[in-house]
Amino acid sequence: MNEEPLPLAKPVIGEEEERLVLEVLRSGHLSLGPMGRRFEEDFAAWLGVDDAVSTNSGTTALHLGVRANGWGPGDEVVLTPFTFVASGNCLLYEGVKPVFADIDPVSLNLDPAAAEAAIGDNTAGILPVDIFGSSAAWPEFERIAADRGLGLLEDSAQALGAIDEEGRKAGTRGHLSIFAFYANKQMTTGEGGMIIPRNPAEAETLRSERNQGRAVDMNWLDHDRLGFNYRLSDIAAAVGVAQVAKLDRILADRARAASIYAEHLGEVEGIELPPADQGKARRSWFVYPVRLPEGADRDGIIRTLGEAGIPAKAYLPAIHLFPQFRELGYREGQFPIAEGVAARSMALPFYGDLSDADAERVASALRSALTA
Ligand SMILES: Cc1ncc(COP(=O)(O)O)c(C=O)c1O
Repeated sequence: MNEEPLPLAKPVIGEEEERLVLEVLRSGHLSLGPMGRRFEEDFAAWLGVDDAVSTNSGTTALHLGVRANGWGPGDEVVLTPFTFVASGNCLLYEGVKPVFADIDPVSLNLDPAAAEAAIGDNTAGILPVDIFGSSAAWPEFERIAADRGLGLLEDSAQALGAIDEEGRKAGTRGHLSIFAFYANKQMTTGEGGMIIPRNPAEAETLRSERNQGRAVDMNWLDHDRLGFNYRLSDIAAAVGVAQVAKLDRILADRARAASIYAEHLGEVEGIELPPADQGKARRSWFVYPVRLPEGADRDGIIRTLGEAGIPAKAYLPAIHLFPQFRELGYREGQFPIAEGVAARSMALPFYGDLSDADAERVASALRSALTA
């Protein structure tokens, strides 16, 4: 079989991105220029929020979010172990102790009951992640946070365009939230992130912190607080402006690709597909994760698929088992649902123009790999 390998992910880049990047290059204004502001305004308008502050990654947006919530040494923040490592690292950057709680076996998001049980005297907040583009149980987390006087930070890096159980877009509920634009995300700027502030004063602080602690009206070498260089370049912002303009189409294409997969993979015995949306909730398709049967040789299956030109990835590992969290005492067996899901999950090639033939090819290769 000499078929071309399928990509694992594929950004949707076209002439508009090229035109706007050239416009920035020719303007000579490569950072902190008008394109950066335009990206923030277009993104905020698309999302339906008052303001949005760009950063140079989702991770740096998370870091600023932790600081904006005032979380620091001595504080504990409850989070899911079934996420990308940055959701936990951002707490460690500020000396905050991550307190993991197990996930819901269907949504794969932080289980509100488990999160509530993990709250202690030092808990300052909860950091739910909208994993695999599916909104966390936000009404529940808001209730818990209000009852207990806790802060919330929404890691919506994987969920741009997701709709939650109350029909609201991820990142728009009024608590701090962040997005990420690495090249495998729904929309990309190559590297990049966005943080949604709660009010104008917070937006001003975030813009200062991402820019070395300078206030908007300050000279280049004046700084009135501790800051970072978390600025997004205007070249990246130009790509972002073009991506936001076609975001609805990108999201619709990904939803169509997911339904093609559901049709073909639904016939592969033994694997579990992502659950159907419930009520008003709508997943925003980030990756296409499937769960293998208990005891399946995932590494062997990934190898066999790779030989057939089908890249697949063990996705996601449970993060409490990484060394920086083990150092805090986390071990295997503490979060059995997350660990079980992490051991059996796998992401398949996924992109908006996935064809029927691609999906059929993946389904048939997976069927043979499972029975080999
Ligand atoms: C859930 C989650 N949070 C945070 C990030 C970090 O984003 P970035 O890679 O842009 O730093 C990612 C990136 O994949 C993610 O999936």
